[in-house]
Amino acid sequence: MRLSDCHNIDDFRKLAKARLPWPVFDYIDGAADDELTKARNTSAFDDVDLVPDVLAGVGAIDTSCTIMGRKSALPLMLSPTALQRAFHRDGERAVAKAADKFGVWFGISSLATHSIEEIAGLTGGPKLFQLYVHKDKGLNASMIERCQQAGFDALALTVDTIVSGKRERCLRSGFTTPPRYTPSAVWSYATRPRWTLDYVLGPKFRLPNLDGHVQEGSGKAVSIQDYFNTMLDTGMDWDTAARIRQDWGGTFALKGVMSAADARRAVEIGADAIWISNHGGRQLDGSRAPFDQLREIVDAVGGEIEIILDGGVRRGTHALKSVAAGATAASGGRLYLYALAAAGQEGVERALLILKEEIERGMRLMGVTSVDQLTPNRLRWR
Ligand code: FNR
Ligand code: LAC
Repeated sequence: MRLSDCHNIDDFRKLAKARLPWPVFDYIDGAADDELTKARNTSAFDDVDLVPDVLAGVGAIDTSCTIMGRKSALPLMLSPTALQRAFHRDGERAVAKAADKFGVWFGISSLATHSIEEIAGLTGGPKLFQLYVHKDKGLNASMIERCQQAGFDALALTVDTIVSGKRERCLRSGFTTPPRYTPSAVWSYATRPRWTLDYVLGPKFRLPNLDGHVQEGSGKAVSIQDYFNTMLDTGMDWDTAARIRQDWGGTFALKGVMSAADARRAVEIGADAIWISNHGGRQLDGSRAPFDQLREIVDAVGGEIEIILDGGVRRGTHALKSVAAGATAASGGRLYLYALAAAGQEGVERALLILKEEIERGMRLMGVTSVDQLTPNRLRWR
């Protein structure tokens, strides 16, 4: 299978699976417990049907919209994800450049493998930094300050990861960051010599946004579960979020809001956006799917705050359904991560091209010429 054989996100998943050692693939693909929430995140979109209008004159269409004050070419964003250097030698650089080319938002994680400054220097396009609140307050302050200096457009505070979810594929494979050399891991690397050569000969694996504060994950191999459970601040609360919002001073989002009551509190602390998200099913298994929860949140806070639908998005029509149901945009991680793992920047660009074409085709077939014509009356819930 080659990149040119990939026609949808699941095709990239197959190519990624063929290219990555299984502990690395399972880290991306896996989720918590029985992975029920991960599956529901995508299947939730099937419970809603689109009702097209015909003869609408769709020769010229405009797929752009405004998200958190910046123009986006599509109602689609690339969610922040960790450790990208382990998936492809170009890591976050590849994703930043592909996002820039397509005019869409992307985010880097606190656990990114390229620095805030390096990524900011690569693109003038819209970019956000995802903050994990660490017990080490100096580290939190340093990351916020570096993002201010580098001119990041928004800060997204992740609020669904107070402890790690139980990711059983990672427990079985022993996946650590950086990937280490246990006998079973070495066997998995031996089965994927191209990845292994790239990993050994490519740039050193680092977590440069933690520099000067944290050894774990960069110098010392640690599982993501142990990292979260020892390094992150489990005492984080609404006061913490309000304080971070203040310290940052710029466009601010909460990522991982699931209840209407919490969405209301996000409005009260002055957040600009919420991401309805269960972290791609990687945290609380059994948590409701973002798309199932969207209407309730739109009813509670629609028009007062931007609402990003994050998780399960694999098709252009999933983005169209999200917007029609009241979201500002849809966002996702695996929709570009499989492609990154499969073929770096070229892969991410192909994934974005496929999704862009699906969005354009879907809009034309729906009989709409602009994103704001996607309204709830174009949907029927089964
Ligand atoms: C993530 N996600 C994530 N979120 C976050 O706030 N900080 C992070 O460092 C990461 N890291 C991460 C790694 C990997 C491998 C995945 C798959 C996901 C969650 C991510 O931002 C997003 O919420 C989910 O990916 C959405 O689900 P889909 O689109 O993957 O179905
Ligand atoms: C994950 C983290 C890093 O989901 O957010 O693996």
